[in-house]
Amino acid sequence: MLTTRPTSLCVGFFLLFLSLPLSTLSQPSMSSDSVYDSFLKCLSEKTKTPQSQIAKIVFSQANPSYTSVLRAYIRNARFNTSSTPKPTIIVTPLSESHVSAAVLCSKPLDFVFKIRSGGHDYDGLSYISDKPFFILDLSNLRDVSVDLADQTAWISAGATLGEVYYRIWEKSKTLGFPAGVCPTVGVGGHLSGALCVGFFLLFLSLPLSTLSQPSMSSDSVYDSFLKCLSEKTKTPQSQIAKIVFSQTNPSYTSVLRAYIRNARFNKSSTPKPTIIVTPLSYSHVSAAVLCSKPLDFVFKIRSGGHDYDGLSYISDKPFFILDLSNLRDVSVDLADQTAWISAGATLGEVYYRIWEKSKTLGFPAGVCPTVGVGGHLSGAGYGNMLRKFGLTADHFIDAKMVDVNGAVLDRKAMGEDLFWAISGGGGGSFGVVLGYKVKLVPVPATVTVFRVEQLMAAGAVDMVHKWQFVGPKTDKNLFMRMLIQPVTRNKVKTIRATVVALYLGKADDVVSLLAKELPELALKKENCTEMTWFQSALWWDNRVNATQTDPKVFLDRNLDSSSPGKRKSDYVATEIPRSGIVSLFNKMIELGKIGLVFNPYGGRMAEIAEDATPFPHRNMLFKIQYSVNWKESSPELEKGYLNQAKVLHSFMTGFVSKNPRGAYLNYRDVDIGVNDHGENSYKEGEVYGRMYFGKNFDRLVKIKTAVDPGNFFRNEQSIPTLPIAKRTGVTERGTAKRWSGAGGATIVASVLLHVF
Ligand code: FDA
Repeated sequence: MLTTRPTSLCVGFFLLFLSLPLSTLSQPSMSSDSVYDSFLKCLSEKTKTPQSQIAKIVFSQANPSYTSVLRAYIRNARFNTSSTPKPTIIVTPLSESHVSAAVLCSKPLDFVFKIRSGGHDYDGLSYISDKPFFILDLSNLRDVSVDLADQTAWISAGATLGEVYYRIWEKSKTLGFPAGVCPTVGVGGHLSGALCVGFFLLFLSLPLSTLSQPSMSSDSVYDSFLKCLSEKTKTPQSQIAKIVFSQTNPSYTSVLRAYIRNARFNKSSTPKPTIIVTPLSYSHVSAAVLCSKPLDFVFKIRSGGHDYDGLSYISDKPFFILDLSNLRDVSVDLADQTAWISAGATLGEVYYRIWEKSKTLGFPAGVCPTVGVGGHLSGAGYGNMLRKFGLTADHFIDAKMVDVNGAVLDRKAMGEDLFWAISGGGGGSFGVVLGYKVKLVPVPATVTVFRVEQLMAAGAVDMVHKWQFVGPKTDKNLFMRMLIQPVTRNKVKTIRATVVALYLGKADDVVSLLAKELPELALKKENCTEMTWFQSALWWDNRVNATQTDPKVFLDRNLDSSSPGKRKSDYVATEIPRSGIVSLFNKMIELGKIGLVFNPYGGRMAEIAEDATPFPHRNMLFKIQYSVNWKESSPELEKGYLNQAKVLHSFMTGFVSKNPRGAYLNYRDVDIGVNDHGENSYKEGEVYGRMYFGKNFDRLVKIKTAVDPGNFFRNEQSIPTLPIAKRTGVTERGTAKRWSGAGGATIVASVLLHVF
């Protein structure tokens, strides 16, 4: 049987902790800045390390990584709200001496000293306090070493139980360790059961990358990138180092994970970036583009990290991440009913800022408040006002982006073609979107929401069949989403169909409308709740008491809190016959887990031309989202769920759009094709490109070829450039370098600036 070190070893540290002022403190008299300065100075002296080095493990509230470091190990979302008390300083030691110094340097300061390992304290005691406090976060001290000879293991406080079990499993299939069942629980709190966590300390965490690296070492890539950024932004390297994270940076993992919104890609085996850059200004973004170009790395751009297949933060080639989450300004102009919304803002922040200023203006975008502006808006975006107001992209007035030359362009400077391309053609192909100026829309003082469920035995087949004739054609103030899910009732598998709706008007009106148009739903007044538009956004986010919920919850980013999942999409142009609905339900019962979401179109959507934006599916009846999420982390189960999505997609072939079969870019699905950006790039791009963009694909390719002929901005499903042989008959205005995907060769190619 494996054992831990004897607990008597803990005594020394425990005494130190006891001597800290943990309970009865008044607000310290020093300012946060001087607390930080004096703490840093003390740590630097005690550890004999330059302050510039030690600054990498000490986070004041002004540090751009503060929020991600704090939230990375908040494991109870109850304490992950904007009103949760926040620490004045977080220290993330890399060594035992850092811990000792942190203890000694904290003692003279008048702060509660909280110690966190995995952050699973049910009441958040390791990271909240109602008195001013510091957090000593041990998550970087995570070494686990198993000694087979004496059947023991040394397990560090910052390791998780999952890491412990894994390290044992690596070495032995007949040894185990009797600890908790949740793999993310931290060793420190779990094994000590109290404060005594310093005793499992050992070595530094290991670099995480599983990638083969380009010829330069990670260190020299980091050094040369930092130097370049510092020169281009005219900022000292010590300052710029705060926004550039190499794999050895103690905050690397928390910064990376903060915006991984699909836990399928939050594993130790998931490829990791060599560098993450988190710009604080447009000039940082420009410099990041220019300084990345000569290096041979794929350049991924991430805003909210909600890409369903993780394309903003993974790659099978060595890569950087440009993470825009710090560029999150949203400013609402009531006079002209517009808003400027930055790429790194979330939709929840956008809705909140509008609500702060007006109760009669809204914005037609997605229903999930943590979705990022950068990906959502550049990929078209839609929400529950789509039938009344069309897509999110239909409301753009202006935009700003950084192009491949590092220039910051607004609509005038980029021209109408590029502006059109980033109004639904997807981010990541044309440049780095910094934000959009959008037109807000009027919303009534009272709106109505309802949710009505029906099982098969109660008539769900007829209701779903009829819904197809009503949902896309009814009053454009009504958006009725249909959720179809296999469920078990009285030990019998069946299908549950749920209509979730927003009506931009009063309850009485929608009840009488549907009594006529969709009596199969049997909607009653008591199913409906009247509220404001902003409250309806909370309700759609599954806030049970939406009318009582604090609007500030939309400022919460709920970082690092997703489950694994998979999405796919389809479009339906002609109603599915009743027999088709029956066979679909039976197939879903057979598969067992995967669900479908039908989103009705019609209304304003059908009034807008198919080429007004890159999004071509304007005349469809409805869109289907295939949706499966799971909790278990078994590779076998994951394979099974992914397969269910494929099987159901294939089953639907006869019922959905054809030639090409449509798909929605923002429901990213790499199953429909990926691009290796080699010789066949155009052909590969055409496969998924036509599904996402139909005929608009051709215009997108021309624009791409003109603005980024070297294909610097690329991902697995980006818009390809035209093959060189097809770039004829166009005005050539200059040259640019081409950065190849794998080999790092640079080729000089023509830049086509006038292709239309
Ligand atoms: P992320 O940062 O992952 O980026 C997505 C893509 O855009 C990547 O290719 C990335 O490189 C690129 N990109 C991001 N920022 C960029 C920038 N600044 N410049 C250039 N390229 C950039 N959709 C919808 O239309 N309606 C809805 O209601 C919902 N609801 C929803 C709920 C949940 C829980 C999820 C996970 C997703 C959705 N979506 C959605 C889909 C969502 O719109 C889509 O995933 C967006 O691309 C997410 O944008 P993020 O910035 O969060 O993602």
